[in-house]
Amino acid sequence: MTKENLKICCIGAGYVGGPTCAVIAYKCPTVTVTIVDLNEDRIAAWNSDNLPIYEPGLDDVVFACRGRNLFFSSEVDQAIQEADLIFVSVNTPTKKSGIGAGFAADLAYVESATRRIAQVATSSKIVIEKSTVPCRTAESMRAILEANSRDGIRFDILSNPEFLAEGTAIPDLMYPDRVLIGSLQTPEGIKAQNVLADVYANWVPKEKIITMGLWSSELSKLAANALLAQRISSINALSAICEATGADVDEVAYACGLDSRIGPKFLKASVGFGGSCFQKDILNLVYLSESLHLPEVAEYWKQVVTMNEYQKSRFLERIVKRLFNTLTNKNLAVFGFAFKKNTGDTRESAAITLVKHFIQEKANIHIYDPKVEDAQIEMDLCEPGIATPEQYKKSVTIFHDPYEAAKNADAIVVLTEWDEFKTLDYQRVYNNMHKPAFIFDGRLFLDTKKLQNIGFQVEVIGRQV
Ligand code: NAD
Ligand code: UGA
Repeated sequence: MTKENLKICCIGAGYVGGPTCAVIAYKCPTVTVTIVDLNEDRIAAWNSDNLPIYEPGLDDVVFACRGRNLFFSSEVDQAIQEADLIFVSVNTPTKKSGIGAGFAADLAYVESATRRIAQVATSSKIVIEKSTVPCRTAESMRAILEANSRDGIRFDILSNPEFLAEGTAIPDLMYPDRVLIGSLQTPEGIKAQNVLADVYANWVPKEKIITMGLWSSELSKLAANALLAQRISSINALSAICEATGADVDEVAYACGLDSRIGPKFLKASVGFGGSCFQKDILNLVYLSESLHLPEVAEYWKQVVTMNEYQKSRFLERIVKRLFNTLTNKNLAVFGFAFKKNTGDTRESAAITLVKHFIQEKANIHIYDPKVEDAQIEMDLCEPGIATPEQYKKSVTIFHDPYEAAKNADAIVVLTEWDEFKTLDYQRVYNNMHKPAFIFDGRLFLDTKKLQNIGFQVEVIGRQV
């Protein structure tokens, strides 16, 4: 393997594998990158004009190098055999049953990808954990690889957690705060670490590529997500105090964020954090702490998730209370279904929880989101424990125009901070709503004064209006 003709395979063509390895191909024209997945529909979409993920800037990157040095394929074995470096970027959801259900990460996909590598590899490989995994997963991967591989083949395992956020994945990958590579601190481990560091060095400044031991690297990923989510739960906890006292949570966040030790980022109160990872990774940390007989530590991190659930139920209660204690037969326009702006991803979106309760309260729900597919909304809301298909059909209508969604509505509930919601013609919206017309701003980003001047009754998280 030389630096010039390096071959990379990425197992898992999801939100992480796709953008991450597409950027590697884009920045390293002499490296051949093949992204594989068992899901043939997903691969077909990656090979089409309509990529399976909405992510600003992603199309440009993929279209610039697809067919040149970037390939999407469902021929997993062939890609493994040809590769020098293999990223394992498969999903690691929370376990739904068995030991650790509801907390531990389900490592079945990581294990099956690892076993596949062991079975089909005919030459030595560097195997890279890209998925977010519990501390010491690399040890299990090593055991599987070593017990199942052919003679004379060597596997080095690296941890290279991903820190991109959805909606900003491309700039996050192009200009990362840091790239983290963990390895066993043996001569071979460090050699493998250097091979991967050289790939990133094609566009990431050397001082931002940091190396450490495997276990620190694995834990740093869980720790970073836990610390980020903890900031949101902290500001959300303060938002409850603000609503009760007359303080304004944005002002409090601004005042605190100016302290350089605290910093201004990730202090935006909201209806609650969503996304596929914060809750999953914290629960994973809780499980790890419990397994290590550290109940106080487990309880500490669990509170971050508890606070997030409380924030959603607090918002729901406020909506019901302001709408005269009943939602029955009321028309609610839900603006935004994605877990944050600039993504079509709905995993763990606060909107799912809120709409579930609106259905239970017998409201008619009109959903508008500029990017989320209709089929995705239906799938999310027809999950067991959310609503039955009959309840869904009876209660939910999807709109492709916000003005239509708000027509004859009693209230608008804003759940995602899409920029376009700031610039709607709210006079037009108001004219076509039932009166009194309410807006519940779950993102604290609309112009409250302007809305009040139009005649809206406005409710905002984190301040009295
Ligand atoms: P995803 O569900 O979008 O993609 C995972 C893909 O892996 C799926 O397409 C699935 O079909 C495929 N897959 C599973 N097992 C396979 C196998 N044995 N062989 C081939 N393909 C297989 O998940 P994601 O959001 O990309 O997350 C992947 C990992 O990255 C998770 O561990 C997650 O915690 C972590 N992560 C995610 C983000 C994010 O923003 N989504 C950010 C950082 C880290
Ligand atoms: C998060 C982390 O930011 C990434 O570093 C990490 O790689 C990723 O998880 C992961 O491991 O999956 P992501 O979930 O894509 O990224 O998006 P964030 O920008 O972190 O937002 C998560 C949730 O928190 C969203 O619902 C967002 O609206 C909410 N949020 C964020 C707030 O409510 N307030 C804030 O101040 C920031």
